Amino acid sequence: MIDIKKISKTYFQGTQRIEVLYQLSLKVEEGESLAILGQSGSGKSTLLSLMSGLDMPDFGSITLDGLEINRLKQDELSQFRAETMGIVFQQYHLMSNLTALENVGIPLELRKDPDYNQAAMDALKLVGLSHRLSHFPSELSGGECQRVAIARAIVGKPKIILADEPSGNLDDDTGKDVMDLLFQLCQERKQTLILVTHNQELASTCDRMMILQKGQLQLAS
Ligand SMILES: Nc1ncnc2c1ncn2[C@@H]1O[C@H](COP(=O)(O)OP(=O)(O)O)[C@@H](O)[C@H]1O
Ligand SMILES: [Mg+2]
Repeated sequence: MIDIKKISKTYFQGTQRIEVLYQLSLKVEEGESLAILGQSGSGKSTLLSLMSGLDMPDFGSITLDGLEINRLKQDELSQFRAETMGIVFQQYHLMSNLTALENVGIPLELRKDPDYNQAAMDALKLVGLSHRLSHFPSELSGGECQRVAIARAIVGKPKIILADEPSGNLDDDTGKDVMDLLFQLCQERKQTLILVTHNQELASTCDRMMILQKGQLQLAS
């Protein structure tokens, strides 16, 4: 489902050169869950943004569900992303001018799915937010925003879910509930899950754990 071959990514900040990823390769099977651990600044979010096609690697290739994403045109990539991927960003990235319900409906609206409203309501119910449908992000707590973001990621039943520290802003109990739900859904739907987390216990729930260090992924025990 995911085949990453020798990708490298370097950022330049003024004269400073930050080599974040170096010839990193990774394969993930359909339905597999993979946890990615690593220190702050090790490049975890960078890796997810490359996998989602929101940013480009300097070298190497990323193939998702048989398509090399960096060869797609911008509109093809947006379409592919809406159909294939659900993404939970570290900073939620909700649209501030849309309600919770409208935010969750976006991926299906992009696909012109006529049932997007009902599906968005169902997804919000799954994450325990049926009572917050018409709230705007500014009227929601951090944890609630995170749950809206998770609902948006799962609403279209995408083949791949990329989640960056999804429980980071939730209290322990809510975090566990939401993550249990995410794991359960991924299993039922045979979705591939890439989970970036600091939480060792959560990580060990995944089929495989890897650590990002020095620009590469290593198997974690
Ligand atoms: N757009 C950018 N421009 C310059 N440097 C960046 C940019 N994005 C990330 N970095 C740097 O790349 C490194 C990895 O960042 P990131 O992928 O966010 O790490 P993590 O998610 O593991 O904490 C950090 O040192 C960060 O400062
Ligand atoms: Mg990060």
